[in-house]
Amino acid sequence: MTSTTHAGPTTAAGTAEVLRPHAEDAFAGELAALAAQDDRPRPERWRLSPWAVATYLLGGALPDGTVISPKYVGPRRIVEVAVTTLATDRALLLLGVPGTAKTWVSEHLAAAVSGDSTLLVQGTAGTPEEAVRYGWNYAQLLAHGPSRDALVPSPVMRAMADGKVARVEELTRIPADVQDSLITILSEKTLPVPELGGETQAVRGFNLIATANDRDRGVNELSSALRRRFNTVVLPLPASMEDEVDIVTRRVRQLGRSLDLPDLPDGAEEIRRVVTVFRELRDGVTADGRTKVKSPTGTLSTAEAISVVTSGIALAAHFGDGVLRSGDVAAGILGAVVRDPAGDRVVWQEYLESVVRERDGWKDFYRACREVS
Ligand SMILES: Nc1ncnc2c1ncn2[C@@H]1O[C@H](COP(=O)(O)OP(=O)(O)OP(=O)(O)O)[C@@H](O)[C@H]1O
Ligand SMILES: [Mg+2]
Repeated sequence: MTSTTHAGPTTAAGTAEVLRPHAEDAFAGELAALAAQDDRPRPERWRLSPWAVATYLLGGALPDGTVISPKYVGPRRIVEVAVTTLATDRALLLLGVPGTAKTWVSEHLAAAVSGDSTLLVQGTAGTPEEAVRYGWNYAQLLAHGPSRDALVPSPVMRAMADGKVARVEELTRIPADVQDSLITILSEKTLPVPELGGETQAVRGFNLIATANDRDRGVNELSSALRRRFNTVVLPLPASMEDEVDIVTRRVRQLGRSLDLPDLPDGAEEIRRVVTVFRELRDGVTADGRTKVKSPTGTLSTAEAISVVTSGIALAAHFGDGVLRSGDVAAGILGAVVRDPAGDRVVWQEYLESVVRERDGWKDFYRACREVS
């Protein structure tokens, strides 16, 4: 089967140039070290054993001293169940509220298991059946009639043929009849091509990771027939303040490096502040449990905390004194909290006056927030 995945300039050698390298390129060194030292049994066509895939995701140290950075910060068991599922005949459904790293985990799982995270179908209300099954190159089709050469395989079909992991993003947004074309693929492990009187049978190593957002669940409820083909793993919000600060700090550093932002000293205090504000507004109560606060309409996820801090660092680097300060994150926080101008603004003002104003050491932040409000 012809593969066009790596055609063009985005080969491994060119990754320094691309804005966002794929996980298998960004962490090629770690993956190679794991593969070299992994002596546990590997399922057929897997690049690593399930144990090594879990270590790649959760981080750890190898016998030769190589340090594997944690990609996912969360319960070990969740990762173990997800990895194990991929070695069975059931597909994996990652479910959770926005910003809980569903897409991120799916990309890293595919990179570690198959060495290829690019076999991706983006689910939308307009995703056609061809995106899941196959389409045709019409010039070829008209000139020579239906043939293997005229067939344009979907990422899922390519994964079946090559024994790799395919990814479907936002599965529940896909129209129900298109979703249902996955049933045969997942249960019979084959994709019939009636036009050619043939089929593509999945070879060992093939599996599928789908992600779905809790909040979209109503949009196109998964049919029970399809749901039965999946093991569902729910990704939780970060359990503690420390975990969330850790995630934000790590990701901000990585993003900063890829955006060529300088490494700022002493951003820790502002990161902690952003995470505190987000958690308190999300939970509806202050960290000490004493004061109830109202929650705004937006999700205030970890992902948004990451982008508020990253923008803040860019502000500090380009227009500030090189140190991340309250004024650099205030506008970002306001933008994330106030989504619906009417209701959210009231929620924010109340929080500002009743919580932020009274808090020790938050005077600068309070002033900065008043300025941008
Ligand atoms: N527990 C976590 N461990 C590591 N990174 C995390 C965690 N939670 C969130 N992140 C970070 O948050 C960012 C956004 O995650 P991602 O886009 O995967 O979320 P998502 O669950 O797919 O959200 P959506 O439902 O909006 O698609 C990523 O950069 C990821 O690194
Ligand atoms: Mg996502």
